[in-house]
Amino acid sequence: MLGNFSYCNATKLYFGQDSLNYLGEELKKYGKNVQLIYGGGSIKKNGIFDAVVDILKKNGKNIIEDGGVMPNPTVEKLYEGVKIARENNVDLLLAVGGGSCCDYAKAVSVSIHCDDDPWQKYFVRFEEPTCKIVPVGCVLTMVGTGSEMNGGSVITNHKEKLKVGHAFGEDAMPKFSILNPTFTYSLPERQMVSGIYDIFSHICEQYFSGNDDNTSDYIAEALMKSLIHSSLIAKRNPQNYEARSNIMWTATWALNTLIAKGKTTDWMVHMLGQAVGAYTDATHGMTLAAVSLPYYRHIMPYGLHKFVRFAKEVWGVNPDGKTDKAIADEGLLKLENWMNSLGLVLRISELGATEDMIEGIADATFILDGGYKVLSKDEVIQILKESM
Ligand code: NZQ
Ligand code: ZN
Repeated sequence: MLGNFSYCNATKLYFGQDSLNYLGEELKKYGKNVQLIYGGGSIKKNGIFDAVVDILKKNGKNIIEDGGVMPNPTVEKLYEGVKIARENNVDLLLAVGGGSCCDYAKAVSVSIHCDDDPWQKYFVRFEEPTCKIVPVGCVLTMVGTGSEMNGGSVITNHKEKLKVGHAFGEDAMPKFSILNPTFTYSLPERQMVSGIYDIFSHICEQYFSGNDDNTSDYIAEALMKSLIHSSLIAKRNPQNYEARSNIMWTATWALNTLIAKGKTTDWMVHMLGQAVGAYTDATHGMTLAAVSLPYYRHIMPYGLHKFVRFAKEVWGVNPDGKTDKAIADEGLLKLENWMNSLGLVLRISELGATEDMIEGIADATFILDGGYKVLSKDEVIQILKESM
C-alpha cells in the first residue's frame, strides 16, 4: 500500500547546453554579495569559473571567493565557510562544482544564522534548522549525488571518524540549479564512472525495500535501464552528448526524493560506504561499489522476490526453467559484470581500508531498519570482510 506523503521540490532547474544563460536572470532575485563556492580548481582549467564570474560581474555582484572545497567536505571547512559568509554578509551562496560544493553550500546556508554548533546540531542531533537560511544556487559540474535538487548535505569529521548526511527540508534545497551536460566532459573517467555508480546505488537503495506494488519501483526500473544503457555509451565515448545528458537527468531523478515516496527505503549501502569514506576519504561512488555486491548477496534471501524482479526487469534475465534463487543470482552477476565493464573498484582494500579498520568502520556504520534485513553488528563486520 502506498503510504501517506507530501511532496514538494523547491529547486528550479535549467537544463541543457544553453542553461548558463539563465544564471543572470536568477541572480537578479538576490542581493549583491555572492559567496562563490568551488573546489580544488577544475573550474579554473575548464573555463567554467571565468564564464560564471563574467555573469556575476555583469549583474553587478560583489564576488566573495570561497574555493578549496574538498571532495567529502570537512567540518573544519564548514566552519571556515560560515565565517566567510558572516564577515561578508552574503546574500547568495553559489556552488559551482559537484556534490561536495553543493552539499557544503547547503551546510553553510543553515549555519550562518545559527547560534549553535552546526556539526552538533545538524550532524549529531539531526535537528532541523530554526534560523534564517541563506539561499543556495548551483552550477553543477559533476554528476552523481543529486545534491542539485535535494536538501541533502554530507559532512565528514575526520577527528571523530564520522561521515554523516542530513536531509534538510525544502527551505534548504538549492533555489535553482544549472545543469549543462557539457560541463561534465572534463571529468576524469574515474569520477565519471564513480558518479554513475552513485546514481545506480541511489536508485537501488530505494528499490530494494517494501512491497512490489508501488509506482516508484516502476520508475526506478526505468531509470536503472536508462542509466545502464547510457553509461556504456559514455564509457566508450565520454563526449557523447545524449548519453551524458541522460546520465545527468537520471542522477537528478534518482535522488530528488520522488522515487522514495509512499514506500520504505534501505540505504545500507550508503551507510556502509560512508563509514568506509570516514576512514579512507575515498571517492564516494567507489566506496558504494566496493560494498554493494557482498551486501546484496547477504540480504538477497530476505527479499528474494525483489531480486528476482530486478533480474528480470532491469537485466533481462530469462526466468524459464530456473529457480528464484538462480534468477536472482544471475541478476547480481549481470550487475557485477556491468560494474566491471565500467572499471569500478570492487574492494575496499583498494580504497585504503585495512583489516585493523574493520571494527571501527563497523562502529561508524549507522544501522537502518528500512531494508529487507536489519543487520547486526556481526553481519556488518562480515559484509565488510567480504568487501576486502
Ligand atoms: O574540486 P575540483 O577541482 O572541482 O575537482 C572535483 C573533485 O576532485 C572533480 N570535478 C568536479 N567537476 C569536474 C571535476 N573535474 C573535472 N571536471 C569537472 N567538470 O571531481 C572530484 C569529485 O567532486 P565531488 O564534488 O567531491 O564529487 P561528487 O559530486 O561525487 O560529491 C561527493 C560528495 O557528495 C556527497 C558524498 O558523500 C560526497 O561527500 N553526497 C551527497 C548527497 C546528497 N546531497 O544528497 C548524496 C550522495 O549519496 C552523497 O553522499
Ligand atoms: Zn550517493
